Amino acid sequence: DGPKPLAGRMAIVTSGPTHEPIDPVRYIANRSSGRQGHAIAAALAKLGADVALICGPVSIADPVGVRTIHVERAEEMRDAVLAALPADIAVMVAAVADWRVASAADQKIKKHPGESIPTLALTENPDILKAVGHHTMRPTLVIGFAAETQDVENNAKAKLERKGADLIVANDVSPATGVMGGTRNSVKLISRSGVEQWPDLGKEEVAEKLAALIAERFRQG
Ligand code: C5P
Repeated sequence: DGPKPLAGRMAIVTSGPTHEPIDPVRYIANRSSGRQGHAIAAALAKLGADVALICGPVSIADPVGVRTIHVERAEEMRDAVLAALPADIAVMVAAVADWRVASAADQKIKKHPGESIPTLALTENPDILKAVGHHTMRPTLVIGFAAETQDVENNAKAKLERKGADLIVANDVSPATGVMGGTRNSVKLISRSGVEQWPDLGKEEVAEKLAALIAERFRQG
């Protein structure tokens, strides 16, 4: 059936959450299963791309046919992503923690009865998508995700510009949708040429449709 449409193309995909340490036993994290990112990595590999998947702590298996690099923290994820450049395609799906604890404790923070409750000073994490979108080795196609609970479309449009992305895949992750940790996803594709609403699909189907769209962009040149 001829050569695969993404043969010879290099892709970087991020997936999963990041864990930001508070002390050696505690961390700040967010709800992300890694299912959507892993499915996208697998779908791109299926179309022939050489895929580096950089993922935070997840409880799902590494996809087959994909080079998977495991990291914990946002800064480690950023380092691994930048080390994987140059690439033709970047799809940043990871739910990166926006903040980390400014100075994580070396020892477990102990509870002392009668003493004051600790407060955590936070500092901003690097924005990996933004770094890739504005990089001198920027991939030809830079795709971000936007998990929103309100005003999905406007937030995604602003994100497209701010992060230097070509496409934002936006989904409504309000608790009622069941998207977080679930197997289905209902997304809107926001690009400079408009908005496309996709029907409610399995995360694998979203991945396959997105990989097909990416292949089509490269076919058109
Ligand atoms: O700004 P927000 O977190 O909503 O943007 C989401 C998009 O940006 C996702 O593609 C996510 O993977 C990426 N991102 C990132 N690094 C961050 C925050 C978000 O790559 N620190």
